[in-house]
Amino acid sequence: MEVFLARHNGFCYGVKRAIKLAQDSAALEGKACTLGPIIHNPQMVERLASEGIGMVDTLQEMTGDTIIIRSHGVGPQVYEEAGVAGLQIVDATCPHVKKAQMSAYSLSEENYQVVIVGEKKHPEVKSIFEWSGHKAEVVETVEQAAQIKTCLKLGIVAQTTFSGEEFKKIVNVLIDKSNDIKIARTICTATDQRQKAAIELSQEVDLMLVIGGKNSANTTRLAQLCSNAGCKTHHIETVQEIETGWFNGIHKVGISAGASTPDWIIKEVYEKVQNMESLLEEQDIKKIQEDD
Ligand code: F3S
Repeated sequence: MEVFLARHNGFCYGVKRAIKLAQDSAALEGKACTLGPIIHNPQMVERLASEGIGMVDTLQEMTGDTIIIRSHGVGPQVYEEAGVAGLQIVDATCPHVKKAQMSAYSLSEENYQVVIVGEKKHPEVKSIFEWSGHKAEVVETVEQAAQIKTCLKLGIVAQTTFSGEEFKKIVNVLIDKSNDIKIARTICTATDQRQKAAIELSQEVDLMLVIGGKNSANTTRLAQLCSNAGCKTHHIETVQEIETGWFNGIHKVGISAGASTPDWIIKEVYEKVQNMESLLEEQDIKKIQEDD
């Protein structure tokens, strides 16, 4: 069985930066906590907890003195509240997310009707919405875009991890909604690269494993894209979820991982799949012995 890793996979620049900032704050005096999980990967959150970095869901829960803003970012109100509460702020918002936030802010200030193309419930989209002064519309599908009313000035901003192809389709619908349109294509290249590499690989293998948090939007989308490309795909979080039965009759396996998936988990999965042939042989031998 041959095992291939997608050309681009795993931690992106923004996540690496956020983890480094969080780990560096463990060395600060007092206790540092992230506001919500720093990234959408439960195993990484657990590892940070073991290094002394806690997590709170709201500023009111803070007992320490340093708050770490996660890569998805937050609205302006959180910075204000943290300042009033006298908290130190370590801002791990990904610079690409910051750009999307600032685009929404300036478009809204210039009286553009802001439309965020993204998932309404995603924390990053919520933060961009906050920066629009709560005035943005959020659309995730072509159908939702069609419902947007025509207006004098329309500004479009993308969730950084949104599919480039879907964004194009939605923009094609929105383009008829105004004569004055500004588009901030704030999709980050890490997402595009991972998506293209995963699709390419899924067209060359019999089975794809996509690794990453079940709560990670970009990992879920990678798995969807591989599956849409016609390849049998499993979205797993850890090596423990792998079932040997998946590999019967499989010759080529592709592995991809979301931008919030730590290297050590990718390595564990890669090694287990590499050893799969011997695991399957052992299973066959056991089965024959049981049958005897
Ligand atoms: Fe930032 Fe893109 Fe990663 S937005 S957090 S570099 S996926």
